[in-house]
Amino acid sequence: MKPIQLFDAASSTYTYLLFDENSPERLRPAVIIDPVDEQLERDLAALRHYGLQLVWAVETHAHADHITSAGLLAEHAGAKTAAPSGCGIHTAAMQLQHGDALAFGGESLTALHTPGHTSGSMSFLWNTREGQHVFTGDTLLIGGCGRTDFQSGSAEALYNSITQVLFELPDDTIVWPGHDYQGKTDSTIGTEKSQNLRIAGKSLEEFTQLMGQLNLPKPNRIDEAVPANQSSGIRHDMVLEADDDMDPSLPMHARHAEGYAGDIAPRLANQWGQSGAGVLVDVRTDAEREWVGFVPGAVAIAWKQWPGMALNPAFDEQLLARVPKDKKVMFLCRSGVRSIPAAKRASELGFEAYNILEGFEGDPDENAHRGVCGGWRFMGLPWRQS
Ligand SMILES: [Fe+2]
Repeated sequence: MKPIQLFDAASSTYTYLLFDENSPERLRPAVIIDPVDEQLERDLAALRHYGLQLVWAVETHAHADHITSAGLLAEHAGAKTAAPSGCGIHTAAMQLQHGDALAFGGESLTALHTPGHTSGSMSFLWNTREGQHVFTGDTLLIGGCGRTDFQSGSAEALYNSITQVLFELPDDTIVWPGHDYQGKTDSTIGTEKSQNLRIAGKSLEEFTQLMGQLNLPKPNRIDEAVPANQSSGIRHDMVLEADDDMDPSLPMHARHAEGYAGDIAPRLANQWGQSGAGVLVDVRTDAEREWVGFVPGAVAIAWKQWPGMALNPAFDEQLLARVPKDKKVMFLCRSGVRSIPAAKRASELGFEAYNILEGFEGDPDENAHRGVCGGWRFMGLPWRQS
């Protein structure tokens, strides 16, 4: 089978969805490569459309031209994140080394370290019964290659990666690039070996000279995108707007958000809960509340539940039965991401709904430990362990 190729027109980025079509599971295990944050809804719809359970959200490198949705997919779809170990993406659950395999059902993806565009960049190899596919990120593009003039790039390393790793693959291996700016979708190793304008028939010296003369402009989003991508695309660094009727001593205020009333700091949510102005709804799973801790007095209505982190089909019914419409409703999850779709849904049902930033545990730190940088528990707000 072929991968499903998805395109983000704003950044000309290709995202790939691969799955085990022979899986006996009701939801077939899947992997997504280089997902884009603006396309989260499209990708979640694709998972539903094809009946897939996302197992891995994988990056080829820390991108400079768009922000990943890997962290969001972990929260919304229950995927684990995987990234090349040399890319500084410390939030990824699996730090990939050359040769590592990522299993999804009976299929697997093999990581190939292909430095040059960035020093950590990887390509991924997928062997299917019908043939072999390689996902090259920005290492090898159709008729071209990624730039090497920033982000630890090296023309020499790129030359070696392309000629000694990728061009060693069988000629009929299908090449799936990370971008294309002319509408081309795929190529083969044989075609690129003989026709790639940047590298076919060129010596290392010719290639490095060519790469040194490109004089490309700086990518539009590099200053924003690289730091965001090094935390799997999850950011809580936005400047929040002040609202007149809120306590100015609070560090953060409600920020107007799309599709719900706003994002609020844990402290403000606690204040609204204590004063009776609002009802706190904890959307984590039963297991999370049990193991990690809970907020006394909060209403527990899971957004997703184990097994499989499937959406709770009774969410609407439980919310309407347990929260009066004349109260604000503030949603709490683990890190302030899963609570966003819950707040959106509650708004559709007619509630004044808020998402609590940072959630119960806060964002993971550089060692992927939670509870050490922000969140309800870290702020010293009321909570208990069962
Ligand atoms: Fe890139």
